[in-house]
Amino acid sequence: MDAEREAVGVVGVGWVGLVTATCFAELGHPIVALDVNEEKVESLRRGEVTIHEPGLAELLEKNSERITFTTSMGEVLAATRILFCCVDTPPTYSGDADLSRVRSVVAQIPEGSEHALVMKSTVPSGTGASIRRDKPDLRYVSCPEFLKEGSAIEDFMHPDRVVVGVDEGSEEAADAVERLYQPLGGEMVRTDVASAEMIKLASNAFLATKISFINEIANVCEQTGADVIEVARGMGLDERIGASFLRAGIGYGGSCFPKDVSALKQLAGNSGYHFQLLNAVIEVNELQKRRVIAKLEKHLGSLADKRIALLGLAFKPDTDDMREASSLVLSARLQGEGAEVVAYDPVAEESAASMLPDVEMASSATAALEGADAAVLVTEWPEFSELDWAMVRESMASPVLIDGRNYLDSDALRAAGFVYDGIGRPDPPDGT
Ligand code: UGA
Repeated sequence: MDAEREAVGVVGVGWVGLVTATCFAELGHPIVALDVNEEKVESLRRGEVTIHEPGLAELLEKNSERITFTTSMGEVLAATRILFCCVDTPPTYSGDADLSRVRSVVAQIPEGSEHALVMKSTVPSGTGASIRRDKPDLRYVSCPEFLKEGSAIEDFMHPDRVVVGVDEGSEEAADAVERLYQPLGGEMVRTDVASAEMIKLASNAFLATKISFINEIANVCEQTGADVIEVARGMGLDERIGASFLRAGIGYGGSCFPKDVSALKQLAGNSGYHFQLLNAVIEVNELQKRRVIAKLEKHLGSLADKRIALLGLAFKPDTDDMREASSLVLSARLQGEGAEVVAYDPVAEESAASMLPDVEMASSATAALEGADAAVLVTEWPEFSELDWAMVRESMASPVLIDGRNYLDSDALRAAGFVYDGIGRPDPPDGT
């Protein structure tokens, strides 16, 4: 097979699928991308990208001639021999991953066909083995994705590593996957399917653990007068620890960490092992979102009838993704305390509106802050660091700012007259 010309099928054009399809097209491969949602396929054919991912719309437009969008599996099977499965695996009520969409893709690959199925969807360890028990002839490769929302194209084009999990009988398919990724560099990790599946879950769970760990350190810093930013800097310089994912804040969110941590916990539980550490990681993350309430009460007393402005709603900047965003729990808790909540997010307003029906949506940060008794920075959008905070202070009813991501310049804000409170940051010597 010639990797340069190899046609690639992508099944499921959500965020992972669309990035995968677009980036392989950029590498020169003809792509046939399928989704069951006709409306989505129609709008992608028109070149409309509804997902907010920097650079994606432009790269798709540039490569539009190489990508065919379809709802027909027959078309994918006819045009390609290698299919990337990128359908979602949302959590069920039990916290297990829902594999129904994955199963439906597998069911559509004819018995005895030469097609290779490459699993990009995040699935519990053991899924590949169970698929091959049902379909022993299927050429199956596990190739988990490690893309981050907001920098997905950069991550795809410059991977730290590419994990290729393969069991006996599918080696040729795994070689083909390796050839596809070869031009991107990055260490190739060839392993068995079960280990590849576990690498994905363990990586996300470890990163979530790092975040909950630094958040607990931040909470202790608040008791002892240390500054978590200094602590993280000092820790991160140790190569064994590393500097990334040590930013304390009001908890992790998104479609991946909460789901995958829970899926790994359930997977362990289902196989008879109680994964104690992950219980703590989840609990710390839940409590972290709620600690903002106590911080606000420290400055304002009762929150009843207080107007609180949320700056940012998305689970992180550069995305409009609201899944498991800390803002959801935070705004509900504020409303539970009787506060009036007003919010502004540069791109997530539309996706947030239906999830936050009782939250007033402002058209700008300054509009949200006008008349507010306090502001909480929830998502570190760059535009918040560029605000004229001295002017903002004049428009607020009281100048209280809780920086939930330790993003703003605390000294500058205090100089502008704010009562500034971050996460794990010491109070100034004069106690303002
Ligand atoms: C995460 C992983 O980082 C990717 O490697 C993985 O491919 C992806 O999940 C997935 O499984 O699909 P993502 O959810 O896009 O990517 O976002 P991250 O940048 O990892 O951030 C997740 C959350 O952690 C955000 O809410 C962010 O604010 C929070 N975070 C991150 C912190 O609170 N502190 C940090 O130091 C880093």
